[in-house]
Amino acid sequence: MKLPNSPKALPLIQLIQGIARPFEYLEASAKECGDPFTMRSPGFPSTVVFSNPQAIQEIFTADLNQFDSGKGNKILQPLLGENSLIQLDGRSHQRQRKLLTPPFHGERMRTYGQIICDIAFQVMNEWTIGNPRPIHPSTQEISLRVILRAVFGIDQGERLDQLRQQLSTLLDSFNSPLSSSLLYFSFLQKDLGSWSPWGRFLRRRQQIDELLYAEIRERREQPDSSRNDILSLMMSARYEDGQSMTDIELRDELMTLLFGGHETTASSLAWAFYWIHHLPEVRDKLLQELEPLGWDSDPSEIAKLPYLTAVVCETLRIYPTVFFSLPRIVKSPIEVMGYQFEPGVMLSACIYLTHHREDLYPEPKRFKPERFLERQFSPYEYLPFGGGNRRCIGYAFALFEMKLVLATVLSRFQFALADNRPVKPVRRGITTTPSGGVPMVMIDKLQRASTPVPTLI
Ligand code: HEM
Repeated sequence: MKLPNSPKALPLIQLIQGIARPFEYLEASAKECGDPFTMRSPGFPSTVVFSNPQAIQEIFTADLNQFDSGKGNKILQPLLGENSLIQLDGRSHQRQRKLLTPPFHGERMRTYGQIICDIAFQVMNEWTIGNPRPIHPSTQEISLRVILRAVFGIDQGERLDQLRQQLSTLLDSFNSPLSSSLLYFSFLQKDLGSWSPWGRFLRRRQQIDELLYAEIRERREQPDSSRNDILSLMMSARYEDGQSMTDIELRDELMTLLFGGHETTASSLAWAFYWIHHLPEVRDKLLQELEPLGWDSDPSEIAKLPYLTAVVCETLRIYPTVFFSLPRIVKSPIEVMGYQFEPGVMLSACIYLTHHREDLYPEPKRFKPERFLERQFSPYEYLPFGGGNRRCIGYAFALFEMKLVLATVLSRFQFALADNRPVKPVRRGITTTPSGGVPMVMIDKLQRASTPVPTLI
């Protein structure tokens, strides 16, 4: 089996480049080798990277038994555990997806609309006028509070406060390319005491686990059938054999949702604030669309606004916070784009390169929401949430949340970028985020900002 060309750099150099400057590495590799190309990294199987919509369609629509994926996500195991949806394959994956998907869609999702608006307002209302600070920590706080609320059904309490604090600190452990290397190089994963990076990570994880297990224990001891949050749903679910989820399974799935639903949305929101304020014409058009909204506007109506939707789509196109789909590991021989692949090879759709194809997105480096008003892209041309049977289960929720947060904040507060320094994508764990966290300054709290918001939290 001959794999597509690989960049000439040594596998270790490729891995370091991929960690330190992921987008530059991908662009340089595609330029050197074409599409597809093979990424080689020490400690990982060869991965063939595609950015051709036809190939991506073939991969995403292949028979379910054609690929595994969970086994290819080992770098997330220390964080999420081996029972995480992301680590599962086959029937157990399908079973968990069936359980976890509905709360993040349709009517169930819409019940969080007002809560999202309230949380966004409360977090941003803590800013003082004229004091520059990065907006990313605020979008992190919003998305963390939203996902905690969805998962646990509450937003207050000592345990939840501790959990919020501990989760932020744990995710901060991977806030630079250097610290992200911990996940990629298993030889760095040595517990040399609480001062060593891995030792610190393990201790923080332990503290989070204790909080999660305490919550699970309490709910088992005091069951309340009226609760409809995601943890209650998982606890009452029964597999076909009548078994319920074990404490470890519950812990791993909780971590998966908290981790998957938090950082991705927070970074995407920080990018959206950057682009909206970097380009006055985008901001003006958006404000015009938001102008007729009252503080009691229906969140579902806000989510349908066309220009707001286009701004969110373009934000997720230009710098997708997750730049690859999860790997698809070939289980039986398959041909994609004329290449024959044998079992064991990993295939992956490169979201970033697909989103930067000139033939699909002319002037791909320019932020132009209009492209999403002028044409519709297929799920193999535009794929910020991946696709097929591993498509992000939180995609509808994330889009809904982003639109509501932007609408709430822009119609209640006036912001500007604090400086003209260029903002670049930098790695944070397995995601990317805007460098410097997007320093902004609040210029004004608008009239409507003083209107009391209904407090549901
Ligand atoms: C802007 C926000 C988000 C982005 C860009 C994003 C992106 C992605 C991508 C690219 C994948 C891999 C899909 C594939 O391989 O085909 C994924 C998977 C996943 N995402 Fe998201 N995501 C976001 C928000 C969320 C939220 C809010 C949740 C939780 C509710 C979530 C939970 C997950 C889970 C559990 C998976 C694994 C699915 C599986 O293995 O079957 N994500 N996400």
